[in-house]
Amino acid sequence: MNYPISIEKVSYSRVHEVDFDNLLFGHSYGDHMFIADYYDGDWRDCRIVPYGDISLSPATTFIHYGQSIFEGMKAYKAPDGTPQLFRPERNQERLNISARRMAMPDLPKEIFMEGLNKLIELDHAWIPTKEHCSLYVRPFMFATDDYIGIKPTQNFRFMIITSPAGAYYSKPVRVKVADKYVRAFSGGTGFAKAAGNYAATFLPMKEAREQGYDQVLWLDGRDFKYVQEIGTMNIFFIMDDTIVTPKVNDSLLDGITRDSVIQLLKHLGAKVEERELTIDEIVTAYREGKLEGSFGTGTAATIAPVATYNYKGEDLDLPELSQDSIIYKVKSELEAIKTSKTEDPFGWVKKVKVDTEVV
Ligand code: COI
Repeated sequence: MNYPISIEKVSYSRVHEVDFDNLLFGHSYGDHMFIADYYDGDWRDCRIVPYGDISLSPATTFIHYGQSIFEGMKAYKAPDGTPQLFRPERNQERLNISARRMAMPDLPKEIFMEGLNKLIELDHAWIPTKEHCSLYVRPFMFATDDYIGIKPTQNFRFMIITSPAGAYYSKPVRVKVADKYVRAFSGGTGFAKAAGNYAATFLPMKEAREQGYDQVLWLDGRDFKYVQEIGTMNIFFIMDDTIVTPKVNDSLLDGITRDSVIQLLKHLGAKVEERELTIDEIVTAYREGKLEGSFGTGTAATIAPVATYNYKGEDLDLPELSQDSIIYKVKSELEAIKTSKTEDPFGWVKKVKVDTEVV
């Protein structure tokens, strides 16, 4: 191994303090965390340590300039108790796509995969087994130069933390279509999982919430015409028996759940189109009674139906998706693949070997 990992285990596990029957998203964190530091031109000091606070200089680059990226993925248990991950190599590849855009070093696949597997192996008791629950895994990288001037950064930290999680949205989502703010534009960072992309959406989201909506649907930053994504999710529309989703470009995230859903839909014989999609087309389809429904996809959100779009002050209330809809079929099929309750014809699931005694 080029990057050996040292392990310091907790002396007492907090897992028994977790109420696995009432899990929310992002409220408690696993016993351990993975850390690797980048300095003198390479990644070093790979280690797993007890989860806890980290100490940083107040001048640390990412705090001031937001040079920080992240990923989101999930671990599940198979019926025989084997921990497993869903498409982790896609997260590893996407982390490095984000890193390049943000002038950060690539993280070697070995560090990502070994760190991830060891962490899940150690904290496998934290993986919930209840339906719609999972262990959310958050890998992230940030710039750690102790310097408040602006220059290419030399020092970085990569970490992985875990959090047992329930459903992200508990009911169909109410969405406000952006008419004032922009999330991304061509040539920007929209395709990267960069912290600042999310920071810029907090004010629009706060305003949308004050008006009774859960999320914002972003339009393109030039013409306010083309549909992009919903910050926490990619977006799909069912029109004329076809499922349409915006084609990936440099202003929106190439979602892993998005890709899995497209593959599953096609596998089940549905007609799927990835193309440019205007908000006018959606509104026209709605007015003509051709908009059969809409849903978002994301790692945290999985597949979440949309109840309403508010566009220019008008609520477009969508028909409720029937329980026999292909969307629910895809949702349960995806859940069954992730938990090995059915065949995985795509080779998406990666088992985690458990050798270590749980503390
Ligand atoms: C994910 O789905 O993993 C995300 O990163 C969305 C998030 C901001 C919760």
